[in-house]
Parts: sequence; structure tokens; C-alpha cells
Amino acid sequence: SNGYFTYDPGFVSTASCESKITYIDGEKGVLLHRGYPIEQLAEHSDFLEVCYLLLYGELPDAKNKEMFSTTILRHTMVHEQMVELLKGFRRDAHPMAIMCGLVGALASFYHDYLDITNERHREITAYRLVSKMPTLAAMAYKFSIGQPFMYPRNDLGYGGNFLHMMFATPCEEYHVSPVLARAMDRIFLLHADHEQNASTSTVRLAGSSGANPFACIAAGIAALWGPAHGGANEAVLKMLDEIGDEKNIDQFIAKAKDKDDPFRLMGFGHRVYKNFDPRAKVMKETCDEVLNELGLGDDPMFKIAKRLEKIALEDEYFISKKLYPNVDFYSGIILKALGIPTEMFTVIFAIGRTPGWIAHWHEMISGAYRIGRPRQLYTGPEARDYPPVDKR
Ligand code: SDX
Repeated sequence: SNGYFTYDPGFVSTASCESKITYIDGEKGVLLHRGYPIEQLAEHSDFLEVCYLLLYGELPDAKNKEMFSTTILRHTMVHEQMVELLKGFRRDAHPMAIMCGLVGALASFYHDYLDITNERHREITAYRLVSKMPTLAAMAYKFSIGQPFMYPRNDLGYGGNFLHMMFATPCEEYHVSPVLARAMDRIFLLHADHEQNASTSTVRLAGSSGANPFACIAAGIAALWGPAHGGANEAVLKMLDEIGDEKNIDQFIAKAKDKDDPFRLMGFGHRVYKNFDPRAKVMKETCDEVLNELGLGDDPMFKIAKRLEKIALEDEYFISKKLYPNVDFYSGIILKALGIPTEMFTVIFAIGRTPGWIAHWHEMISGAYRIGRPRQLYTGPEARDYPPVDKR
């Protein structure tokens, strides 16, 4: 190990506080992972190398890059009992419900490695989670369409292997396009970590109780499911579907501006970025690459998205509220173009965010940590006596 998994009693951490992992400047649109700008990582690195960076704090040299990738890709299979577990779900179960269940259940297959004070156990569970998330995700998809599960292929890269497990069948060879495999890898990379967002804070809070990493990541998956967070890319496609035609865009823009209407333009705005989301810029380039590769530039859905983006970027209200397309606006379009069903979008976000969750979980417990215990401002009734039922 490279010291990542060692115990550092001098580093006192609580659930959400200082962190060495990711830096965001919302005003300047800056996102750094262990000091490296996301734009440079997206251009020169790949998802597994960024996983290593997030976990160990440094980019790997050639030997460690090879070791890490080989180890991850050689542990992508899951225990056959997980297949039986999956069969207990309804066929129409939302894949995020399945992922919450299966990832939490992984703890029962690795109960000999759940001593979070043991450096080797922490390393093993971190690797198994990165390895197995795509396999479980693809199994959830195959289960929903009644097709046989496809075993992972260690000769394919992380992104390509996921597309293989999603779309290959035993009946014929499935060719993994290098452009699409690279796009898939980049989507995972762009979601790898994002400081103390809602799901990451959930993972840290769960970790502060001493819960095992599988339980903490399952908690993160549950928090990510919401449409305001990880569910946004699925919500973007539902919104584009609802718009249905370019001529309807203006009425949706008007709804988004209407204070009395709870409707929000999915894929726009961000709690932190008040200029632009640097990931969205890279995702937009990837989106154009994928649409060109697949010859979908004229697809009506994507034309609506392009026009919506253009209008929102020029609209006074959105400019005044600093609402720009976020990472989810473009990722939803890419995933749709790749043929991935909308209910799988947040699952893909969860696969990408797994190394970030693990890095924060470990940072949480790598020092003398204390359980997170948020306090509150009580605004309920004053103390009062219990009335008999006939006096209520
Ligand atoms: C992610 O935290 C993270 O880092 C998350 C994430 C990550 O990687 O982990 O980046 C991933 O969650 C990206 C965001 C995905 N969510 C969506 O795309 C859903 C649509 N967007 C919104 O729901 C909203 O923009 C939020 C939840 C993302 C942020 O909401 P905030 O914190 O209320 O935004 P804000 O304070 O900047 O809002 C400013 C104003 C408000 O109006 P006023 O109260 O000032 O009158 O803009 C309004 C908001 O109501 N507003 C929107 C809007 N987003 C904010 N109005 C219309 N459409 C929108 N999308």
C-alpha cells in the first residue's frame, strides 16, 4: 500500500469538515482533485487513474497504475449468490433500489474484511467496491429486461467492460466502440468526486458511526437517488420528453421562472457553481463527440436540448440567477445516446462517485474521528402535560 490506508491519529476529522481530496471554487468554476484541474484529468487521465489519485492522494507511477488497474479489473465478478439475491427483486424494481440493496449486502460477502481499523481490510473493501459497482449495475439492468447477465471481460477497460455487460448477449459478439468506451470512462471520471455534496456528506456521517464501508456507500447511493442530486440526469430526460417539441420550450422556461410554480429546469443550476460547472464544459464536448459518432445530431430530442441550452444561456432571468447547465444536463443526453435507459442514469452516477465516496469515508476514519452529531434549532411546542383522551 502507498500509505493511503495507514492510520493517522494526528488527523482529527468529523463528518463534514476540512478535507484534502477535492477543491471547488464556485465563482471561478474551479474543480481540483488532489490539486489537479478536472479539465486536465479529463483530457489526459482515465477513470481508474483518477480513482487511484482520489484514494492515494498522488497519481500512480507506471508500476502502480498497472497494479491498480489489473487488481480492479480482476475483481469485477461478483459472488454467484448475488445472482440469487437479485432474483428476489421485482423485475420492474428501480435499479437504484436494487443497488441500495446489493451494495449493502456486499458486507455479508466480505464479513472477514470489515475491521475498519485494519489497513488491509480498508484497501480490500475499497478495491472491491470500485470493481463490482459496474457489474452489479449491469446485472440490475439485464434483470429488468429479462436478459441473461453478461460476465465481465478483464481484457476490456473499465468503461468498455461496462458497456459490454450492459449490451452484449450470449447470442452474438458485441463490438465496444473505442469512442463510446472512452465517453463512458469520461462520464465516470467526471462524476468521481465533488467535495461535500449531499451523498458524500451522507457517507461521511454514516462512516463517523464506525459503520462498514459497504453500509456507508449504500447510504450514499440512497442519498444520490433524489432528483435534486444524482437523479437530475434522469429528470433531464423526462423533462426533454415532456417538452416534446422545440415550440414548447418557451412555456417551460416561463414555468421555471414562475415563483409560484415548483418546476425547475432539470440540469440547470448548482448549489456551489455560480458561473459554470467545469465538468459540464467537458461533458458538453463529450456529448458532441458521441452524437457525431452515432450520427444523432439531428435527433429531435437532442435538438430540443441544444435549443434549451442556448435559450437558457441567453435568458436574463437565468443569467441573473446564475443558472448554467450542470454536469447532469449533458450526461443525461450522452447516456440516452448510448442507449442506456433513463432509470439507469443515476446508477451510472453512483458508479462514478464510488471512489470519491470511499476516499471521503477513509479520510473520515483515518484519524481520531468522532461520530457526527448535527444539532438543531428547536421550534416545536414548549413543555406541556399529557392530557387524558377526553380532554383533547
Ligand atoms: C448535482 O452538491 C453537488 O456537488 C451536487 C453535484 C455533485 O457532483 O455531487 O454537483 C451533482 O447534484 C448537480 C445538480 C443537479 N440537480 C439539478 O440539475 C436539479 C435542478 N437544479 C436545482 O434543483 C437547483 O439548481 C439545485 C438543487 C442544484 C441548487 O438549488 P439551490 O441551492 O436552491 O440553487 P440556488 O440557491 O443557486 O438558487 C438560486 C435561485 C433560487 O431562486 P430564488 O430563491 O433566488 O428566487 O435560482 C432558482 C432557485 O429557486 N433555481 C432555479 C433552478 N435552480 C435554482 N430555478 C429554475 N430552475 C432551476 N434548475
